[in-house]
Amino acid sequence: MIPPGETIGILGGGQLGRMLALAAANLGYRCHVYAPEPESIAADVCAEFTCAGWHDLAALERFASQCAVVTYEFENVPVEPLAVVRAATRLQPHCKALEVAQDRVAEKSFVEPMGGRPAPWAPVADMAGLAIAIDTIGAPGILKTRRDGYDGKGQWRIMTPADIDNVPEIDRALVYEGLVRFEAEFSVLLVRGADGDVRFWDSPENRHNRGILARSTVPASPLIGSQIAEARALAGKIAAELDYVGVLAVEFFATEAGPVFNEMAPRVHNSGHWTIEGALTSQFENHIRAICGLPLGDCALAARGVVMDNLIGDDAHDWHQILSDPCNHLHLYGKAAVRPGRKMGHVTRLVL
Ligand SMILES: Nc1ncnc2c1ncn2[C@@H]1O[C@H](COP(=O)(O)OP(=O)(O)O)[C@@H](O)[C@H]1O
Ligand SMILES: [Mg+2]
Repeated sequence: MIPPGETIGILGGGQLGRMLALAAANLGYRCHVYAPEPESIAADVCAEFTCAGWHDLAALERFASQCAVVTYEFENVPVEPLAVVRAATRLQPHCKALEVAQDRVAEKSFVEPMGGRPAPWAPVADMAGLAIAIDTIGAPGILKTRRDGYDGKGQWRIMTPADIDNVPEIDRALVYEGLVRFEAEFSVLLVRGADGDVRFWDSPENRHNRGILARSTVPASPLIGSQIAEARALAGKIAAELDYVGVLAVEFFATEAGPVFNEMAPRVHNSGHWTIEGALTSQFENHIRAICGLPLGDCALAARGVVMDNLIGDDAHDWHQILSDPCNHLHLYGKAAVRPGRKMGHVTRLVL
């Protein structure tokens, strides 16, 4: 167990790290952020900041030696250099979770033997391979980069085989997926303790706009409600198989034929931000509790319902109007520049 007062290392310097650090501070921990970017909204609320590259082994080792445990808020941290972190201190969740979640092909291949059902998919290495994939799986579909995609970036929709002409030159490993005709989207959010104790939050229904999460609503629709047991069973198997410690998010499409696996995130997740006010224990606090070996907090709903809206780009300028409703809980991440499509904050409302 890592007692309060110790230092927790966070790899990545964005809003997820910031909210993890705030939760850690409430429990009496200090946080140390490691990120390559000189401006870090997570470091702004932390005791220490190391600004260095993901491949700077000396800096990583120095950082790790000052932390009782290291976790991450960004799942695309290169895995290989983390060996020096693991040699110096505890790293939670394990690297294996990163390895699987960083590559869409590894992720789908990992869940299929456990009964997970992704959309039909095929790896794509070049244009000829894409033509074969479209021929086999059919169109419409989505071409995605295997690695480094987020918020809908690195994706091309292929509505008819002729759209192949609009695809940029293929210089990276890709995957082609059939377009899922879903009724709704939802996520399973769980926390697993070092002792194997697993708890689930209520699953939010998630609405995306141009590939970016716009709104999470709890409780989800009845159709999603009827698919949560199956989705949770898969998420639980993933967590057990990875001997996972911390918060894990798994995204699903709710279809007429049941839940279709989309992707997983080995970290706290945007669709869980509602838990800060809307659950008895937030995803951020329970992640900290899990990686420090503390007993987990109750994930039950703290209200009849919850709605979380992301503030994207210019939405953040509305902060004054948002605050004029005393029931709104406003979270701004402190990002200096507003850019279109950039997550600037979120606002949560409880249904009491
Ligand atoms: N195969 C698919 N069928 C239908 N919609 C999809 C598919 N893949 C992605 N999407 C839509 O795009 C969003 C973002 O895609 P996702 O694979 O989750 O990438 P990211 O890593 O950017 O979150 C999804 O939440 C969903 O709305
Ligand atoms: Mg996603």
